[in-house]
Parts: sequence; structure tokens; C-alpha cells
Amino acid sequence: MKGLPFIGFLILIQLLIALAKFYPCDRKQIGSTCYVLNITIESEESFATVMFEEARRLVIEHSNIPTFSETLFHNLPDVEAITLKGGNVTTINFSSDTLSTLRIDKTGLQHLNITPGPNHSLNTLLINRNFITTLPKTIHYLYALSILDLSQNRIEYINLNWFQQMDNLLVLDLSWNHIAQMDASSELRLGRLKSFFVSYNHLSQIPWFPIGFPKLERIRLSDNYWNCPWVASMRKQIWDRRIRLFDSDSACSEHSEGGLCCYDRVPVDVPARYELIEIEFQEQADGVGLEFKKVTSEPPPLMMAEQSDAGSERRTCDELRERVRGLKREKLALVKEKTEMEQQYSKKVAAMQDTLRSVREDLEAAEQEVTRYRYKERMDLIERTGKISAEAGAI
Ligand SMILES: *[C@@H]1O[C@H](CO)[C@@H](O)[C@H](O)[C@H]1NC(C)=O
Ligand SMILES: *[C@@H]1O[C@H](CO)[C@@H](O)[C@H](O)[C@H]1NC(C)=O
Ligand SMILES: *[C@@H]1O[C@H](CO)[C@@H](O)[C@H](O)[C@H]1NC(C)=O
Ligand SMILES: *[C@@H]1O[C@H](CO)[C@@H](O)[C@H](O)[C@H]1NC(C)=O
Repeated sequence: MKGLPFIGFLILIQLLIALAKFYPCDRKQIGSTCYVLNITIESEESFATVMFEEARRLVIEHSNIPTFSETLFHNLPDVEAITLKGGNVTTINFSSDTLSTLRIDKTGLQHLNITPGPNHSLNTLLINRNFITTLPKTIHYLYALSILDLSQNRIEYINLNWFQQMDNLLVLDLSWNHIAQMDASSELRLGRLKSFFVSYNHLSQIPWFPIGFPKLERIRLSDNYWNCPWVASMRKQIWDRRIRLFDSDSACSEHSEGGLCCYDRVPVDVPARYELIEIEFQEQADGVGLEFKKVTSEPPPLMMAEQSDAGSERRTCDELRERVRGLKREKLALVKEKTEMEQQYSKKVAAMQDTLRSVREDLEAAEQEVTRYRYKERMDLIERTGKISAEAGAI
């Protein structure tokens, strides 16, 4: 009579094993990367019982997993990096306090949800060639992010304050989206951000740029609908801070300002935000006071507008003369800076060549190691085969 519950228990276990769906690696690479191809995980019930082979990195390609759910993430506690590539993963409900890298490439992703909660360990999130239109506000819980690449999606709106608490954020790539507006509060400080890429969007300005980006080194800005006064003011500031612009527009239908096309009015096919910009621009100039005045001179187009209001020709003439003098001084300084930057550049190139050389050496060493190993393996095999035939001969 005692045996009955035990048998029941066994049956339960059997049932669980039968229910559990095991997906072996189709391919496994040294360094413990497991490739799983062409699988389907559809129902929510099966998420809890899904099993993969043990591996630190899991690559799931060309698979149909309509929702990659929280349960599924929790079911992979030993995996450090997940790549979803191709196939059909339209929703991600992200929740993990162990995963460090998540890459979702061309899976038809439309919805990204992130569990609110401070335990996420994710430091690299790459979502490319997908259809996300909005980011969840809960993205700000991904405190540990250092690389966030959301390029080639359909994102329309960004609030830069979402990234404020990501103390390690070094790279933010939002290029190739449909972003028409970015907001930020005056307290915005992306304290460590080095690379900020927003080319190929519908932006007319970026609030608190570059003041809110104290460590910025590289930007990409081309192919947007920049507002001319904004570009003029921003250009001076990024020059002073030696932030490098890594791209430029080729042909402009209206004006060009230092390699970027800009518009007095936002083109009609873009939601009109011109008024909004002017207000924010004014606030910006007022808000920061001394600091702002120190870094920028007034952007030229704005100045022109003010002059025609003032009316006094003599004043205009004096101001223009003063400006010419200023420009001459600036030009001299620029020539000097250019030389310095060129020197820095060639130093960096030399450093990169050194790195490349040492990487190549490492690679060669590794290849030799592999060859040696293969040779040994083959010798072992020959030896073993020899033994076997000797034994066979003895019999
Ligand atoms: C994927 O798997 C399904 C069945 O599960 C099969 O019919 C199909 O041919 C497979 N596709 C590829 C590209 O392997
Ligand atoms: C994913 O998250 C969304 C929003 O939180 C929720 O409505 C949905 O039910 C979740 N789906 C699964 C399969 O967990
Ligand atoms: C992807 O999923 C959607 C919805 O479940 C379905 O309509 C579509 O046919 C799927 N596409 C592929 C390539 O499996
Ligand atoms: C986060 O971590 C704390 C402390 O380790 C733990 O008590 C809590 O349950 C965790 N929350 C989640 C959502 O994992």
C-alpha cells in the first residue's frame, strides 16, 4: 500500500520527462557556443519545460518562437549570451539576472517588453533589422548596459532620460530608425557615453546636445532634418570639445552647415515640430547661463535675425567688423587644432596597427597549436589502428 504513492510519483516524473522538449545543438563550437536551427516553441506551457544542451552561448537561428517569454529566459540560467537570428520572434518579454548579451537580428521583432526590476545583468543589447516602433520605458532598468544598438528598426520617439541611469553606457546607436523627436530634461547627463549614432532618422534637433554628453567622442548625424540654427550652435560646441563627426550629407536640397544638410523649416512630410524646437532652443540658451555662453558664440542665422530687428546700421557694421576679427582669430586657432588632431590621428593609427599585429601573432600561434594537436591526434589514430591490426594479426 505504501508503494502506490511512490509509483504515482514515478509516473509523474515519466510524464514530466515526456513533456519536456529537448533541443540538442545542431552544431557546437569550441568555446561552448551551441547552434540550434529551425525549431518551433509556440505554446506558453512548453516554455517551462524546454531544455537545451548546456552551453554558455546559445544561437537560435531560423526558428519560430512567436514570444520569447520570461519563462523561457528563466529556463536558461547558465547561458551568458543569446543570439536570435532570422526566423520568427515577434515579441520578446525580457527578464534575466544572469544574461550578459542579447542579440536579436532580423526576426521580425515588433514588441520588446522588459520586466521592471533592478536585477538585470545585461551589458550588451543589439536589436537590428527589426520592426520595433516604441521602446518600453522599463528599458531604464537595464542599468548594466554598456552597448545599446537599436539601429535599423522603426522607432519613432526617444526620451534620452531613459538612458540616464545606465552608468556604463558607452555606445548608443539609434541610426536607421524613424525618430522624429527626442526629449531630455535639463539634468540629462550620459556620463560615460563615447559614441552616439543617430544618422538616418527624422530629427530636427537633439535637446541638451552636447552639454548632456560630457564624455562624447564620436557622433554620426547625417541624413536627418536638422534645424539650421541648431546645427550652427551645436557645430561650434562639438568643435570646441573635439567630438568627431563620423559622417556627412552628400547633397542638400536647402542649406549645408559644416557637412550637414539643414532646414529653416522642417519638410512637409515630417510631423511639424518647428515651433517646439524654437521654444526649447530658447530655454536652452536661458537655462544654462554662463556655461552655455562660454562654449558658444551666438549661431549666425539667429544673430542675423536679431540685427534686422535692432535696425541700427552702424551697430551692425561694428558688430560685423568684430565678427570678422573673431572669425580670423578662430581660423588661426582652427589651423593649429587641425595640425594637432592630425598628429593624434596618426598616433592612433599606429597604435591600431600595433594591436592588429599582436592579434595576428596570437592567431598564428593558435593556428600552430591546432595543427600540432591535429598532428598528434592523427599519430595517435595511426598508432591505435596499427595496434588493432597487429592484434587482429595475432588472432
Ligand atoms: C524546418 O523544420 C520543418 C519541420 O520541423 C521542416 O519541414 C523544414 O523543412 C525545416 N526547414 C529547414 C530550412 O531546415
Ligand atoms: C509578454 O508581455 C506582455 C506585456 O507585459 C504581456 O501582455 C504578455 O502576456 C506577455 N507574454 C508572455 C507569453 O509572457
Ligand atoms: C511568423 O509568425 C506569424 C504569426 O504567427 C505567421 O503568420 C508567419 O507565417 C510566420 N512566418 C514564418 C516565416 O514562420
Ligand atoms: C533581485 O535581487 C534581490 C536580492 O538579491 C532579490 O531579493 C530579488 O528577488 C531579485 N529580484 C528579481 C526580480 O529577480
